[in-house]
This record gives sequence, C-alpha cells and structure tokens, in this order.
Amino acid sequence: MRQGLFITFEGIDGCGKSLMAAMTQTWLVENGYEVLATLEPGGSDLGKVFRQMLLDSSYGSVDSHTETLLFMVDRSRHVTDVIRPALANGKIVLCDRYIDSTIAYQGGGRGLDIDELTRLNDFAINGVYPDLTIYLSLPIEQAMQRIPGTKDRLEQENVEFFARVAATYDQLADQYPHRIQRIDASGSPQDVFALVQTAIGTLFKDRGRICHG
Ligand code: TYD
Repeated sequence: MRQGLFITFEGIDGCGKSLMAAMTQTWLVENGYEVLATLEPGGSDLGKVFRQMLLDSSYGSVDSHTETLLFMVDRSRHVTDVIRPALANGKIVLCDRYIDSTIAYQGGGRGLDIDELTRLNDFAINGVYPDLTIYLSLPIEQAMQRIPGTKDRLEQENVEFFARVAATYDQLADQYPHRIQRIDASGSPQDVFALVQTAIGTLFKDRGRICHG
C-alpha cells in the first residue's frame, strides 16, 4: 500500500534541479515530514556502480542501447530497494531525475524510439509513477554556463543534443499536464524555489496535507 508522496525533479544539465531538490528537502523536513532524497543514476547500492559506468568518460563511448539498459537496471533496482519501501512507510520521496530523463535524453537526445523507451520505463518502475514532476525549464545557453568544473560523459554532448533534450521535455510537459509542472528556472534560486513551493503546495492541498512557507 502506497502512503507517501513521490516527487521527481527534471530538466537539462545545469537547470538547478539538485539545488531545488535540496531546498525542498529542507523545507519539508522543517514542516515535520519524513523525507527521503535520492537520485538517478546511482540511487541504490548497486546503482552506484552503474552511475560510474554511465557517467565516467574513461569508460569510452557507450552505444545508446547499452546506455539505456544500464539506466533501466539502475532504475528498477532503485524502485525495488529504495523508492517503493519509502513510499510504503509514508515518506515523501524526492528524486533528482527519473523516467522523463530517459525519454528526454535517450529519446530526444539520442533519437531512440520514444514508445519503446516508455515501455521499458513502465517495465522498470512496475507501477511506481511520480505524483508530481517539477520540470525546471531554462534556455540552454544559460544552463551550460551553470555547469561547474569538469563535465561528465553526458554533459560533454553538444548544444544540438541539449536542444533536442529540452524540446522533448517540453513535449512531455504538454502531454502530461496533470503530472508535470513546468517551472521557469531562469530567476534567482529564491524566485525559482517560490514556484516550486507553489507546485508542491497544490499537490499537498489536493492530497489533504499541510505545508507552510
Ligand atoms: P548527474 O551528474 O546526476 O547530472 P545532473 O546533476 O544534471 O542530474 O548526471 C546524470 C546524467 O545522466 C545527466 O546528464 C542526464 C543523464 N541521464 C540520462 O541520460 N538518462 C536517464 O534515464 C537518467 C536518469 C539520466
């Protein structure tokens, strides 16, 4: 039986997801909620191995099919070991990237078939869909400037790749308007977080929970 709430954060590299997920965690904990903050790839013990394989450029190039299946194994294990048990315990689960990253990056970015990827996602998550997805939307040039230091294997892709990823996120937001909230991430962290709080506040109200600003 699922009693918690599942919120995912999505967007192109450099959009500020990780900061928004961290600020959300602090806010919800201050409101007395039990929160589990996690991420993909690498949210389970086994997943840390996959994260290394997926992001470390020293492994060389990985073909798109292998890359996708690695993300799927990572996700399936993450759902089974971490997300589903936390939801069953009534926790609020905050996950930095989930199913939409695969559609946007492997579908939009790499050009794989989106229907096929959707079926793979469905198989991997086995019914554990997010209650809310916060999609942080930001112009690519601005996002690229925000990526600090050395870039991982996926961050080294070119601007055209990220343009396709962003366009696919926009399509997903149009396709699933009840689940995905598109938020303008070009403002200051405080401005963007205020929008995140509004989106989460609406979800909580719908589910009969309270959260103060
Ligand atoms: P990460 O360092 O976690 O970046 P970020 O802070 O931007 O989330 O790296 C995750 C990378 O993996 C990111 O470039 C997106 C990519 N990715 C996919 O291509 N497909 C997926 O299904 C997932 C979960 C991530």
